[in-house]
Amino acid sequence: MLRPGMRVLDVGCGTGAITAGIARAVGPGGFVVGLDRDEGNLAVARQELGVTGNLTFKVGDLLAQDFETCFETPFDLATAARTLLWISQPDRALEQMKKVVRPGGRVVVLDYSLEDVQWEPEPPSTFQTFYRTFRTREPEIGEIMRSRSAFRRYLPWRD
Ligand SMILES: C[S@@+](CC[C@H](N)C(=O)[O-])C[C@H]1O[C@@H](n2cnc3c(N)ncnc32)[C@H](O)[C@@H]1O
Repeated sequence: MLRPGMRVLDVGCGTGAITAGIARAVGPGGFVVGLDRDEGNLAVARQELGVTGNLTFKVGDLLAQDFETCFETPFDLATAARTLLWISQPDRALEQMKKVVRPGGRVVVLDYSLEDVQWEPEPPSTFQTFYRTFRTREPEIGEIMRSRSAFRRYLPWRD
């Protein structure tokens, strides 16, 4: 799907490992923007991966009203890995991604279901207890963690 010369937007790029792989795939003739609303993640991305000729990182919120005005040209592909599942309005998120893609371009999403996850091999029972608790009490745990600055960096993606 990725070809040399493509212009790609990676939404919710986090610390940019996937974004950097995309940049390698599209090559020097392509152009990749990693977008994230979390400055902390982008600082790590810039520090570890640098900003090269075909790769830049930009702070922004996918759900912002003026989202599409942040970019000068339309993209061939807008992608989001493990991001939409943390966004409270996934339909709107997809509409926003469509707005920045050229006619005939693509929107590609990688996500997984936290409910349907299966383990192979079975993890230790202590981990399973932890995971069940996290799933059933995740909103409360998220609130507690977000309210404490030392923990905030662990859940920056939660909407
Ligand atoms: C779980 S991380 C995934 C990072 C990376 N895509 C990966 O797969 O390794 C989700 C990222 O989405 C970002 N994010 C969540 N909501 C966002 C929004 N509305 N606009 C932009 N980024 C968002 C978070 O800040 C976080 O860095």
